Amino acid sequence: MADMSTAKPLLQVTDLRLTLPTARGWAQALRGVSLQLERGQTVGLIGESGCGKSLTALALMGLLPERAQVSGSILFQGQELVDMPEAQLCPLRGARMAMIFQEPMTALNPLHPIWKQIAEPLRLHQHMGVAEAKARALQLLDRVQLPRARERLDAYPHELSGGQRQRVMISMALACSPDLLIADEPTTALDVTVQKEVLALIKQLVNEDGMGLLLISHDLGLMQDQVDRVMVMYGGSVVESAATADLFAHRAHPYTRGLFAARPRLGLARGTRLNTIAGSVPELMDLPTGCAFADRCAWAVDDCRRTPPQAETVPPSSPTDQAHVVCCPRWRLS
Ligand SMILES: Nc1ncnc2c1ncn2[C@@H]1O[C@H](COP(=O)(O)OP(=O)(O)OP(=O)(O)O)[C@@H](O)[C@H]1O
Ligand SMILES: [Mg+2]
Repeated sequence: MADMSTAKPLLQVTDLRLTLPTARGWAQALRGVSLQLERGQTVGLIGESGCGKSLTALALMGLLPERAQVSGSILFQGQELVDMPEAQLCPLRGARMAMIFQEPMTALNPLHPIWKQIAEPLRLHQHMGVAEAKARALQLLDRVQLPRARERLDAYPHELSGGQRQRVMISMALACSPDLLIADEPTTALDVTVQKEVLALIKQLVNEDGMGLLLISHDLGLMQDQVDRVMVMYGGSVVESAATADLFAHRAHPYTRGLFAARPRLGLARGTRLNTIAGSVPELMDLPTGCAFADRCAWAVDDCRRTPPQAETVPPSSPTDQAHVVCCPRWRLS
């Protein structure tokens, strides 16, 4: 039996930095992202469009653009993934770590029936024959509760609804029983009732299999019931992270407060204006050396723009074993 005291964490990311070529030159897209995830744990990554959520996911999967420069460390079950040769990474991807992509219509191949696409990782990683892989594809489609799965094995992606396509994507990701599942906005293309169903399904499957889940969303409300811990991202950095209940009880970072104030709530009178955060997410090339949020922050002083904010611990309001960390020197004042 494995000795749990020395067991390696499922995923340990330390000071991950990513530089990308853009039309205006090299841009720092990730500016020191750190996170830890254990098997059986669910972590949410939230933030506005363009803050670096998908790039974080793609960096973990080793699916970055060719000229991207990555530094820092991504330890997956103790193995360093940064600079790992593609030949070594390929057997991990799909088999031990899998991703549900933001847009199922672009991630699925329009020219192949769905069973073939689910069977592909099984054929590649588990060397299954065609008949066995097809039978397993059916089991997987049943598991993600695709209605009339047997009849739909030979369907093409365009013959399915958005919610059904997303279920196919989930079954592909789960095909080889990965230890780590990354779900990048798995429900953005879906309407609200289907969103809830699909998220509940992912949560149920993650619980059953005991894998680690990194769930990416810009929707705070969706996160609340789905994850143990939330990380708030802005301008390529994690600005606050805490156990979900702690974050919902006490938001320390001015950006996190802005996100909460901006979230639509049920029961608002029709026509009520939503509070939104003034300004917009800066272009990567225009990020200041200091805090990326400074230009939109009501509490910022000149030094905020110059000096990168250090992580500070927010004292817990009730006993907890999870740290609540905020990257803002002025969180006590805000
Ligand atoms: N291949 C690329 N080359 C250059 N810049 C990129 C590339 N991919 C993304 N970016 C830029 O990096 C930033 C972060 O992008 P990312 O896709 O991670 O955002 P996101 O948080 O996932 O947003 P969304 O909620 O819209 O999906 C954006 O400013 C984006 O324009
Ligand atoms: Mg994205």
